[in-house]
Amino acid sequence: MKTAIGIIGLGVMGTSISRNLARNGFSLSLYNRFVKGVEEDVAQKKINQYEELESALPFEDLKLFADSLTSPKKILLNLTAGAAVDHIIDQLLPFLTPGDLIIDGGNSHFTDTENRLNRLQSKQIFFMGLGISGGEAGALHGPSLMAGGSEDAYALSENFLKEMAATTAEGEKACDYVGSGGAGHFVKMVHNAIEYAEMQIIAELFEVMHKGMRMGYTEIAAVFEQWNKNEFDAYLLDITIKILKTKDEKGYVLDRILDKASYNQTGSWTLIAGIKDFHSCSMVAAALFSRFNSNRSKAFKGLSITQQEDVPLKLEVDQLRAVFRFTRTVNHYQHFRLVEEMSEKAGWNIDLQKLCSLWSAGCIIKSKLLVQLSPFLENRLGPFFDPQYLNQLNSDRSSVATLITETANTEIPLPCISAAHTYYKQMTQRKSSANIIQAQRDFFGAHGFQIIGGNPGDLHHYPWER
Ligand code: 6PG
Repeated sequence: MKTAIGIIGLGVMGTSISRNLARNGFSLSLYNRFVKGVEEDVAQKKINQYEELESALPFEDLKLFADSLTSPKKILLNLTAGAAVDHIIDQLLPFLTPGDLIIDGGNSHFTDTENRLNRLQSKQIFFMGLGISGGEAGALHGPSLMAGGSEDAYALSENFLKEMAATTAEGEKACDYVGSGGAGHFVKMVHNAIEYAEMQIIAELFEVMHKGMRMGYTEIAAVFEQWNKNEFDAYLLDITIKILKTKDEKGYVLDRILDKASYNQTGSWTLIAGIKDFHSCSMVAAALFSRFNSNRSKAFKGLSITQQEDVPLKLEVDQLRAVFRFTRTVNHYQHFRLVEEMSEKAGWNIDLQKLCSLWSAGCIIKSKLLVQLSPFLENRLGPFFDPQYLNQLNSDRSSVATLITETANTEIPLPCISAAHTYYKQMTQRKSSANIIQAQRDFFGAHGFQIIGGNPGDLHHYPWER
């Protein structure tokens, strides 16, 4: 008997995806490498562990695994990004024939995906970079899937990918072809940057409420619950509510977690991509640097900001709700613009509204905002061109300013909230201080400056020290 789909890599994501596909009626071949004493009989053990995998075939030999698949063979990789992906592709190639398909479902860098795509194209093997979001639960019950590569490759896999994906509120499947080349992995990378900033914004608001306003976990959870129910419907806020409520015999679990954040690479990659594109990604930069800075430097030991008055901050939770609304809008705006710019440059042709729909279900950043932003994304100014939205943003902004002022003399840092505020100010101010920068550049390096009312190409130099 031959099976419909081959899965390589049975870590958390690979296992959940396999269970999802099996539950949807697809016959599977499961492969996991053999590492003596560490990874032995992994596929067989998963089959024994999960009822829905009962009829799947287990393998530790790649040839036998490839031979067990119906042609054209469809193989989904769930591996750690980097060398492991190239290694397995090299090992698989002798057992594949033109027309077979390899899908990389990991968090690979989009340029690696493009290189692999070109390499495999020359061997007539289809290759697709598939962004998968939703974590373990999403992979099991319905993730958001962002496919990139050749449209023919997508056509070969669309049927099973759509079956396993989440369903949006509009009844669409959260699975689509987003563009050629590395577009699928690119948008997944940007998704993660939005995730980083949204997580950081929630963490900052939590700190303001807990340390600044002296609210307990239950009280904060109740406020977040109210916000989410009435307005945001955001997955990340939802899990934070659950975290704040989780208590066992030793007390709140949160109180036992060390305050040092970890990270993989997608946040840094987005920032680097943004910088290479001369695009301001200040929200992910603030979120990423906050993770870095949570490993506090010993050089600052013994120093602190002592709160001037030891009294709770004078803030209303409704002001904080406005802060959440404002900063999330800036976060999404910055990243949708990055996708738009990079897509134009790379010729990926990514449809931002389609992306909104893909990200409105199954993934980590899913929330009502993605549905609300969708109509604005046809316009380059996004929500900032709409008078009603702009009025809302302007009134929310004053709450951000109040929060920044109120916390200035406390030990509560607001990197992401401040980054959103600064970005908005820079985008909306009538005149910036960049004339000083231009004058300084011209003073020490004769770099030239454009004069007000002059042609963009005409550079003028002033003899500052004549
Ligand atoms: C998702 C998540 C997933 C993973 C992050 C974690 O969309 O399902 O984004 O891909 O949990 O990559 O990233 P960090 O380890 O960098 O926080």
